[in-house]
Amino acid sequence: MTYNILSIAGSDPSGGAGVQADLKAFSALRTYGMAVVTGLTAQSTTGVTGIHQVPASFVAEQLDTLFTDVRVDAVKIGMLVNADVVTAVAEALERFAPPRVVLDPVMIAKSGDRLLAQDAIDAVRELLLPRVDLLTPNLPETGELLGERPGQDLTTAAEQGQRLLQQGAKQVLVKGGHLGGQSSTDLWIRPNTEPIALSAERISTKNTHGTGCTLSSAIAALLPQHRDTYDALHAAKDYLTEALRHADELEVGHGKGPVHHFYALWPRPEDDSI
Ligand SMILES: Nc1ncnc2c1ncn2[C@@H]1O[C@H](COP(=O)(O)OP(=O)(O)OP(=O)(O)O)[C@@H](O)[C@H]1O
Ligand SMILES: [Mg+2]
Repeated sequence: MTYNILSIAGSDPSGGAGVQADLKAFSALRTYGMAVVTGLTAQSTTGVTGIHQVPASFVAEQLDTLFTDVRVDAVKIGMLVNADVVTAVAEALERFAPPRVVLDPVMIAKSGDRLLAQDAIDAVRELLLPRVDLLTPNLPETGELLGERPGQDLTTAAEQGQRLLQQGAKQVLVKGGHLGGQSSTDLWIRPNTEPIALSAERISTKNTHGTGCTLSSAIAALLPQHRDTYDALHAAKDYLTEALRHADELEVGHGKGPVHHFYALWPRPEDDSI
């Protein structure tokens, strides 16, 4: 059996984040990748200079056309640009009811640039949260969705994750990439269960562009391939950590470069036999 995974997200011309990263992660994890583009960013490894929004009606048309033809085994949602696009995506989820929907509520790029209009955050909370299976906010996004200050430690992150469940999310993975320390820990939070920590060695690299996009896409690609959600989350985290470990082998841009999605496929840098 092969799996078809859909990304609904924005374009990053530098290829490290957005649909470009999503398609690389889907492919690296042996699934067939598809993408409905919600907006174009003018972006490099040093920042975002502009966003060109796709009209919501055309996002809806892309989704209608695709879902009418293709069996979609999992969906990853990334940048949604405005409230109308959020509404169009929520309507498509309602109509086509795809299994395994992962929402990465992209609001602010790693470079600090805002990627989602303020009014759209309300639409995400009201229309999308109840329709997705897993929400993967980073700490600032967790705070923003709750209207609270971002957590500064894992205890607060766990409490805030619980409050996102009360807002309608089914499961939350609060990402701890923004905390310092020896390890990089994310918290998987579900109703009536203690939070489960997914921890990995913190890789020392400046090349962390697109880690969030890559993790949520890896989860979407791996959920259909694993019986347990925990196993899929664990495998996705392992994949991201290895992609980060090999990030410095790439030579892309002057800022925060991309992770190495195909580290397992490319020859090792010291291996000059190929
Ligand atoms: N230096 C690092 N080493 C190992 N794992 C990391 C590192 N930085 C981030 N991570 C992991 O990367 C994933 C993404 O976390 P992060 O909190 O950076 O998300 P994000 O802010 O949404 O990323 P992005 O800015 O790419 O959207 C998490 O699993 C986090 O633990
Ligand atoms: Mg992110």
